[in-house]
Amino acid sequence: MTKPVILTGLRANNDLHIGNYLGALLPLVDMARQKSSEYQVNLFVPDLHSFTTPIDHSQLQASIMQNIRVFTAAGLPLDNPDVNIYRQSYIPAHSELTWILDCFTGAGEMRRMTQFKDKSEGLGDERVSVGLFNYPVLMAADILLYGARFVPVGDDQTQHLEFARDIAERLNNKFGDLFVVPEPVKKQHEFFGKDQGLRIRDLQNPLKKMSKSDESGKGVIFLTDSPKAARKKIMSAETDSIGKVNYDYERQPGVSNLLDIYRFLGGEPREFIGEAQYGLLKKAVADKVEGFLIDFQARLKKVDNAQIFNKLESDEAKMRKIADSQLLKVQKAVGLRPQ
Ligand code: TYM
Repeated sequence: MTKPVILTGLRANNDLHIGNYLGALLPLVDMARQKSSEYQVNLFVPDLHSFTTPIDHSQLQASIMQNIRVFTAAGLPLDNPDVNIYRQSYIPAHSELTWILDCFTGAGEMRRMTQFKDKSEGLGDERVSVGLFNYPVLMAADILLYGARFVPVGDDQTQHLEFARDIAERLNNKFGDLFVVPEPVKKQHEFFGKDQGLRIRDLQNPLKKMSKSDESGKGVIFLTDSPKAARKKIMSAETDSIGKVNYDYERQPGVSNLLDIYRFLGGEPREFIGEAQYGLLKKAVADKVEGFLIDFQARLKKVDNAQIFNKLESDEAKMRKIADSQLLKVQKAVGLRPQ
């Protein structure tokens, strides 16, 4: 019996931030530590997803390796044979399956993706790459090649995860049982112990999600920020003038965001509900974030690059076999290979 697969990927086009860490990395690392005997856990760098919008390509290699160092510092147990790390582009089946899935995907489906709408807004048609347009298809291939059932992602990726389910079901209906269909989103949240997908907000504009592409960086806590600088960002986070701490994203998104950051870093937010001042909450969150970054960065410094390279090479060889055998199934089904 093969073990059910838990899988996620984090792009390498900028430093990762605490939204990435809390939304996707930590849930996966927690599973890898607690349940690795029951599951196969795959954590990869979707390097082909890195330049759907323009980047500085001279930095990409360094960013890819930095991501893998971050995975390790977050506590991923590299010595466990059921935990796999890999770079997407080292496994060509991702690109090949994407092409096949592309041909069963409606352009309208891609156009309706809210992330596509957000990212392409204001750019002329010529400046929106086809890669940005169909990247949910590549993401579906990333998931379906390994038969992943559980995929921890932040709230902004939920629609893409639903698309992966749709395309898997569509091809299963047409060709018979080709793919494991990932669990419905609600079940995924239950599995990861959440009531919904996580969306950490920008500290300066809590109506927006915290995002790598934020230009000023003032509303974003990067994992490489100096702990002191991160503290300042929390202390100057935008709140409101209501004057009472409440968990209410409609009316108090800034305060609610601080409560969530505190909670997901292990604090107990109930202590602050009803407080008439925001200062105490901010100070507590700043302490937590500062402490977290000090520990995390100390672990990051100690990461052994040689160990990472060895594991990457052996895991990528193993993943190529799994991915190629799933791809062959699909190639046979669509008539590209003899039955
Ligand atoms: P990416 O690289 O933009 O983000 C990595 C993960 O971080 C989550 N995230 C957040 N979670 C909470 N609050 C936030 N403010 C926040 N910002 C980002 C994202 O939801 C994501 O889970 N397409 C994906 C990468 C990918 C992938 C996959 C994920 C490629 N293939 C297959 C899962 C399975 C992306 O661009 O995530």
